[in-house]
Amino acid sequence: MDKVVGLCKRRGFIFPGSEIYGGLRGTWDYGPLGALLKKNLKDIWWRDMVQLRGDIVGVDAAIMMNPRAWEASGHTAAFADPLVECKICHQRFRADKPQDIAAHEKEHAGKTVEWTEPRQFNLLVKAYLGVTEDTKSEIFLRGEITNGVHVNFSNILNSTRVRIPFGVAQIGKAFRNEITPGNFIFRSREFEQMEVQFYVKPDEAEGEKWFAHWKEDRLRWFVKIGFRPESLRFRDHAPDERAHYARAATDIEYMAPWGWDEMMGIHHRGDWDLRRHAEYSGVDMSYTDPETGEKYIPWDIETSSGVDRPLLFLLLDSYAEEDKRVILKLKPALAPYKAAVFPLLANKPELVARARQIYDDLRQNFMVAWDDRGNIGKRYYSQDEIGTPWCVTVDFDTLTDNSVTVRDRDTAEQKRIPAAELAAFIRGKIEA
Ligand code: GAP
Repeated sequence: MDKVVGLCKRRGFIFPGSEIYGGLRGTWDYGPLGALLKKNLKDIWWRDMVQLRGDIVGVDAAIMMNPRAWEASGHTAAFADPLVECKICHQRFRADKPQDIAAHEKEHAGKTVEWTEPRQFNLLVKAYLGVTEDTKSEIFLRGEITNGVHVNFSNILNSTRVRIPFGVAQIGKAFRNEITPGNFIFRSREFEQMEVQFYVKPDEAEGEKWFAHWKEDRLRWFVKIGFRPESLRFRDHAPDERAHYARAATDIEYMAPWGWDEMMGIHHRGDWDLRRHAEYSGVDMSYTDPETGEKYIPWDIETSSGVDRPLLFLLLDSYAEEDKRVILKLKPALAPYKAAVFPLLANKPELVARARQIYDDLRQNFMVAWDDRGNIGKRYYSQDEIGTPWCVTVDFDTLTDNSVTVRDRDTAEQKRIPAAELAAFIRGKIEA
């Protein structure tokens, strides 16, 4: 973990939020490479969930919502974690995280640690909207991105041709006043989520079918984007640990350096959200089957993933050290740069000029890095460490036969190909 955190800072993936002011606990800033990796992850998710499926549409709802929406969703009453306080040093922890409690008690070795009684601490982050700062102008930053979808259920029905079963996808920021943010970006107070609310007929067999479908689908997807299957597992939630909206819940967990922990959740939300929004808003949230005329409030099978957690776990899962070099074995589609272009020698203007042309041509297609510092070996190592799959070297032969050397990150093999075929070569490999 420490090596990945160090790499993230050193190479510009992730920095502590507001670092020059001493930071702000639970916030992180993505640097140039982290922003690219995060965008690639979100783009692949969107392509697979929305673009390549006929039954899911996308939305991008506002972060700030009418506070009534949070009463309806149950978050003002029930979106809480049990908080306890150490009576020696007054630090606060989650009572449902025994490993955190035990670790803290060790810090007071030799003393008996007494804790306050657990009390429910609401995680919604409050803000004020408007020119006064009183309870009338109090709003909440969304604690999950979900309800921006549910409140638009009728709008989506009325403006598209979706038919049950169908899903609504969304990616966006969520905010939680976490009691103990930690493990780098694993638990933050500001983070991103990518979710699909998949609406189905309110029928036990139908609900179970889609719940099982989405569990398997999501596990397969994580393996497809590069996770080792042995790093992942399902964990079903016991009834007493489910969120207030869930009839059933399963996490996909990752074998993190601190033990198995949640990467995403699949939740059977039943008709909780639509029924409550109908009650609180007075707006009809039902669906009428165009063929049978049957009218009902659908059930929602939700797949809810963070963006930051899979990103952290991808970095951990793809970090390798081989022959004293560090390699990020990211799938090419996820890698921040698809290729890097080098002139063999930085002090030969004709080589630099031709390499620049190739670099400019290639970046019409992909994000491409340029490097003319140090020797070629060091440049390879520098690109391996950030996961660049192919390094392209322009040498004296390029000036006569227009071929370049392409070196593969994972095998370190080199081959010569015509410069004119570079883009097609790389695209073919990414798609493969
Ligand atoms: N809409 C349902 C929902 O939000 P959740 O299990 O509370 O369910 C879903 O959150 C996912 O969001 C988690 O599996 C995790 O990937 C991400 N997530 C939740 N809280 C987070 C936090 N404090 N920091 C980073 N990611 C978080």
